[in-house]
Amino acid sequence: MTFSGLSSLILALGAVQLSNAASIKRATCADGNTVTNAACCVLFPILEDIQTNLFDGGECGEEVHESLRLTFHDAIGFSPSRGGGGADGSLITFSEIETPFHANLGIDEIVEAQKPFVAKHNISAGDFIQFAGAVGVSNCPGAPRLQFFLGRPDAVAPAPDLTVPEPFDSVDSILARFADAGFSPAEVVALLASHTIAAADNVDPTVFTDRTPFDSTPSVFDSQFFVETQLRGTSFPGTAGNQGEVESPLRGEMRLQSDSEVYPRTACEWQSFVNNQSKLQSAFKAAMLKLSLVAQDKSKLVDCSDVIPVPPTLNAAAHFPAGLTKNDVEQACAATPFPALTTDPGPVTAVPPV
Ligand code: HEM
Repeated sequence: MTFSGLSSLILALGAVQLSNAASIKRATCADGNTVTNAACCVLFPILEDIQTNLFDGGECGEEVHESLRLTFHDAIGFSPSRGGGGADGSLITFSEIETPFHANLGIDEIVEAQKPFVAKHNISAGDFIQFAGAVGVSNCPGAPRLQFFLGRPDAVAPAPDLTVPEPFDSVDSILARFADAGFSPAEVVALLASHTIAAADNVDPTVFTDRTPFDSTPSVFDSQFFVETQLRGTSFPGTAGNQGEVESPLRGEMRLQSDSEVYPRTACEWQSFVNNQSKLQSAFKAAMLKLSLVAQDKSKLVDCSDVIPVPPTLNAAAHFPAGLTKNDVEQACAATPFPALTTDPGPVTAVPPV
């Protein structure tokens, strides 16, 4: 083919692509919103309802954190050998069986808070849990815009017990449990980015009136969780000797034994998230999509990701909390040095409860 023949072919291909793009029509919903697929229109009233009445007007607060935890506890309820329907809403549908499982301690609060929304709107519990998680995360500055697929059938049976990892489980058994449900160690690290917008209510009974954050910035989706889990632990936020808890580097901060053990096992992957917001977002987004589809048939679901709001951006670099420096890092990744970070000015950081 001559050069001019080749360039006309390229131009023609370009025109075909353009006309395909132009032919993708967006549907206009009754409320004026536009979406790629009209089946997604039903989600806008639910979005508005939960932002107002579940998430306190669009905050990245307690109900968002709990709703994100719930996406995990529902979805991980699947094992190829032991059954369970994964992200099927069984934690709501069979709540009287699943909420008493030891690993689900405290999850009953958000289960009970979400139930009236499921009853009020025409949506399955499995869809609602994942939708609420994705909408909730969109309230957290720095978070990725999570994807959401609609159409999960109702759960037919409760998940078996012991599918949700415990903070006192060995790292071998935690990684084996995730592998059983289809997740690699790198995906586990990506999912644990969720602990950057998280706090514990039930790990230390002496501080149970307060929720104790896992990092110093529990209302924003940043990489501080990955920074602070690499700093030498020096004290407990409450008492010593609680199952599943180890010393943290900051007053008022909680460190789970599981996080402290997954870190050295996955050291360079873990460290790679420090101050790398784009990796933090893309890896979490991909792993959360996979989590939201555990044991579901994606080909039967409708992609309604364009209903999920775009999260606010975050313009803050990772840092050492005031009083701490790179001398406090317990470096486990041998291949790459710890990134250079500045230390916050001021007195030694203490993390307030949330
Ligand atoms: C190794 C696996 C994991 C273990 C052992 C674990 C354990 C825990 C524990 C013990 C708590 C504190 C609960 C409380 O006291 O109220 C917690 C909180 C939380 N977890 Fe995990 N988790 C794991 C993985 C995940 C994953 C994969 C996600 C989500 C994708 C997640 C999301 C959360 C969130 C958002 C909270 C905070 C809840 C709140 O602030 O109310 N966790 N986790």
